[in-house]
Amino acid sequence: MSNEESGTSEQTLSNLLKEDRRFDPPADLAAEANLTEEAYARAAADREGFWAEQADRLSWETRWDRVLDWDDPPFAKWFVGGRLNAAYNCVDRHVDEGRGDQVAIHWVGEPVDDERTLTYAQLKDEVSQAANALAELGVGTGDRVAIYMPMIPETVVAMLACARLGAPHTVVFGGFSADALASRVDDCGAEVVITSDGGYRRGAASSLKPAVDEARTKTDKIRKVLVVQRTGQDVTWDDDVDVWWHDAVGSASTEHTPEAFDSEHPLFVMYTSGTTGKPKGILHTTGGYLTGAAFTHWAIFDLKPETDVYWCSADVGWITGHSYLVYGPLANGVTQVMYEGTPDHPAKGRWWDIIEKYKVSIFYTAPTAIRSFMKQGREIPDSRDLSSLRVLGSVGEPINPEAYVWYREVIGGGRTPVVDTWWQTETGMILISPLPGVTRGKPGSAMIAIPGVEADVVDDEGTSVPDGSGGYLVLKEPWPAMLRTIWGDDQRFKDTYWSRFKKQGFYFAGDGAKKDDDGDVWVLGRVDDVMNVSGHRLSTTEIESALVSHPKVAEAAVVGATDEDTGQAVCAFVILRDEAGDGGEDIVEELRNHVRQQIGAIAKPRQIMVVPELPKTRSGKIMRRLLRDVAENREVGDVTTLADSTVMDLIQQGSSGAK
Ligand code: PRX
Repeated sequence: MSNEESGTSEQTLSNLLKEDRRFDPPADLAAEANLTEEAYARAAADREGFWAEQADRLSWETRWDRVLDWDDPPFAKWFVGGRLNAAYNCVDRHVDEGRGDQVAIHWVGEPVDDERTLTYAQLKDEVSQAANALAELGVGTGDRVAIYMPMIPETVVAMLACARLGAPHTVVFGGFSADALASRVDDCGAEVVITSDGGYRRGAASSLKPAVDEARTKTDKIRKVLVVQRTGQDVTWDDDVDVWWHDAVGSASTEHTPEAFDSEHPLFVMYTSGTTGKPKGILHTTGGYLTGAAFTHWAIFDLKPETDVYWCSADVGWITGHSYLVYGPLANGVTQVMYEGTPDHPAKGRWWDIIEKYKVSIFYTAPTAIRSFMKQGREIPDSRDLSSLRVLGSVGEPINPEAYVWYREVIGGGRTPVVDTWWQTETGMILISPLPGVTRGKPGSAMIAIPGVEADVVDDEGTSVPDGSGGYLVLKEPWPAMLRTIWGDDQRFKDTYWSRFKKQGFYFAGDGAKKDDDGDVWVLGRVDDVMNVSGHRLSTTEIESALVSHPKVAEAAVVGATDEDTGQAVCAFVILRDEAGDGGEDIVEELRNHVRQQIGAIAKPRQIMVVPELPKTRSGKIMRRLLRDVAENREVGDVTTLADSTVMDLIQQGSSGAK
């Protein structure tokens, strides 16, 4: 793989690999660690046996009779014949085992002092009520339910209520637009949407319900909308469709008997960006997913459910929220914090206040957040008592060594191991990560595959590269929480993940990586047209389609340019239609808002350049590498494969005055 494809310059790479700081696990943590070195060998000797042991952490109504059915790859079945209920495992089981009074969720609203605590017993009652209410609205086993919510306890309750009924949920991030919601609802055929009037963000009530109303004008699938009242803001109401949560759920019985479902019963569909314009509905099923989420959460964070207080700052609208805020932590019966708002409201240091107040011991967040705290300086966290912390996690994008060391030193007081966890929406669970009681941490490296997982870095032919070399990140063996398919599109599932190394039968992750001289993995970033902005996945094509849907735009090309704060930033190049003239003074702002309206605020380009031409090869393919050079203010690279090599001069002249 060339550096051009991975988007990483040779210089950055060699700087990274010169990193020689090492951090040993703290002796006390190592002595009591959930997993020790021996787990790697044990799992390698009997991988299926190892995963069966992990599945035993769950409560099964019927035990499986086969661990893995890989007879028809790439379609895996795990714990074949087993039956269980995911919600029972996340809630009822803890109550049945006498832990009903333990706090499940310390919920912290954005307005200061707006807080709520739910024990496992209370969670069980609410989930049962919500399941009864959904059943009353006609939701049955197998029916899809869309959830479009802020970070409030009802969101978790809604997900678990769906799981309890065997109704796969699809959670759509609250920052996505009505269009994005409608297309996801349409794709998976959800007839019921659960939403709220709004939520709090940066000190103000932001609305959600109007987007659902608008989505209903774009798809005719939605039959009922269940609305949680969070902010009390005005909402428009359709008596035939809209139902208040407090009426329907509030009046429902707290008695609900969970039914056991097949281990392969669909649990949820999570949409994520791919290389084409249409988001992919990643399907996760019940037994394998829950096993993977629960085991990794326990092992990688060295979780002691009786004493730890855990906090994952991710939004439930992403896979991290699914696996490490809902299913993993609740299956393990830990006490956790859930926070509604932004890190800097009402003031910088809000996160550290929360850690201090609840004595959070395990904290999981993203490098982009860490970098923004670094900018604010260490005085703010230094003025809080963060001594409860014992393990820190990072996810979503490569963590640069400086951010890793700052996180460990300033937030973790120099005591805490940092687990840099590599995984994806598709993998459902963390696959490459240090183990806090075992690994000698290297800032910037996700280290090696966890026990039970076979990852490697291979070249174009699928051959494992020697230590010290780079290539593509692959997974060589199936794992329990792997995606089962793309909703409604088995062919796309095969083409996207399993065709690149078909002969070898490897899963192609879409990431470039390098093995250092010790064989440890450094994930470098995507090798396809997927961008990673603040740890969120965005597709270049999806944003290009949004841009060309604007009447003034003739053509558009989008690239991810390196950005100090967000990892990558969206940069767009557009050619306007002749009749649009120069587009008018506000054309750039108009187009940025158009993208926001089409997809959501996270997709809004940082920069839009109006250009007369786009660089294309003779076969008409846009050469994004050259556009990335422009976006990153670099000298433009080799232009010899362009159909017209003067185009780059035109673009550079045109872009010099761009915003
Ligand atoms: O490029 C990798 C990057 O995020 C991608 C997966 O994005 P998504 O499905 O949205 O899931 C994000 C949360 C799991 C990967 O293909 N990525 C994720 N974690 C890391 C990472 N890159 C480097 N290091 C990581 N720890």
